[in-house]
Amino acid sequence: MSLRQPFSTPPSSEITPEPVYFKRRHILQASAAFTAGLALPFSASFAQAAPSPASAGLASLPSTLNKAYSLPDAITPEKDATTYNNFYEFGFEKTEPAYNAQKMKTRPWTVSVEGEVEKPQQFDMDGLLKLAPMQERIYRLRCVEGWSMVIPWVGYSLSDLLKQVQPTSKAKYVEFITDMQPDVMRGLGSRVLDWPYREGLRIDEAMNPLTLLTFGMYGKVLPNQNGAPVRIIVPWKYGFKSGKSIVKIRLTEKQPISSWMASAPFEYGFYANVNPKVSHPRWSQATERRIGEDGFFTRKRETLMFNGYENEVASLYANMDLKKNF
Ligand code: MTE
Repeated sequence: MSLRQPFSTPPSSEITPEPVYFKRRHILQASAAFTAGLALPFSASFAQAAPSPASAGLASLPSTLNKAYSLPDAITPEKDATTYNNFYEFGFEKTEPAYNAQKMKTRPWTVSVEGEVEKPQQFDMDGLLKLAPMQERIYRLRCVEGWSMVIPWVGYSLSDLLKQVQPTSKAKYVEFITDMQPDVMRGLGSRVLDWPYREGLRIDEAMNPLTLLTFGMYGKVLPNQNGAPVRIIVPWKYGFKSGKSIVKIRLTEKQPISSWMASAPFEYGFYANVNPKVSHPRWSQATERRIGEDGFFTRKRETLMFNGYENEVASLYANMDLKKNF
């Protein structure tokens, strides 16, 4: 993600044109310990050695593959998907969340679903995990920064949860609010974003069966850095729409203002549909780099309309100007 705000020390990804950044990334990673203190808005100690970031040791989460919703692409190596993350509460470099998020407390955990609903309810994790059968779905995750991954997520359609609370006729939008744990989320001290991290969908987007309430990946429960214990995945939108570690879902009549809209309204809109024809104000969105296929000279892939889910979701935006509603 990228911002223009005058921060004293913006992350390297935000001050460097992308190809140069990717080249630098390798150099940076090689000397991460040295550069962390220079490049980041946090002290070097924030990125200090921590428990192994690997997802080893996580409980398995059995599920049934939903072939109809899965893509044929090669799956991104688990190690890449769990060590190259955006989770700004835990730091601004991609390698930081895997270390820093290990201290996040993920139990007890509740998700309250409220607002324009007949039956507001607070769900604990046991209740959520049992609410509907777990499915595995192989989705592309396309980040607005220009990279993508292919991840086998585990969860069920968000609509299964929303139906439980019975949205009223005034429920036009759904807002997702993610957790704040100031003692371990040093990112909350930075003003890069308006915390807590908030995102939103139109109710029909939220009810679309592709929208996944996600509890796991690669057959196991979510690692903290990927949004444990529960997150949203909206596969036809840029990754920032998919809030991690959510604690509240609020149904509203008015369109909610997401954290990114609040911070950089000309760069990040409410819809954020993956669209190769609509550039970000500072870079094209026509192609993407698939993480794991790295190699600086590897050819980029063409980005697909709605991230490859055009058949499933194009009708949601019939007659809408997607340039205006970016
Ligand atoms: N959720 C929270 N709470 N905080 C964040 O910084 N980053 C978003 C999204 N969800 C983010 C978040 C962005 S920009 C992306 S690309 C995806 O998470 C990355 O998900 P991943 O690390 O599982 O690949």
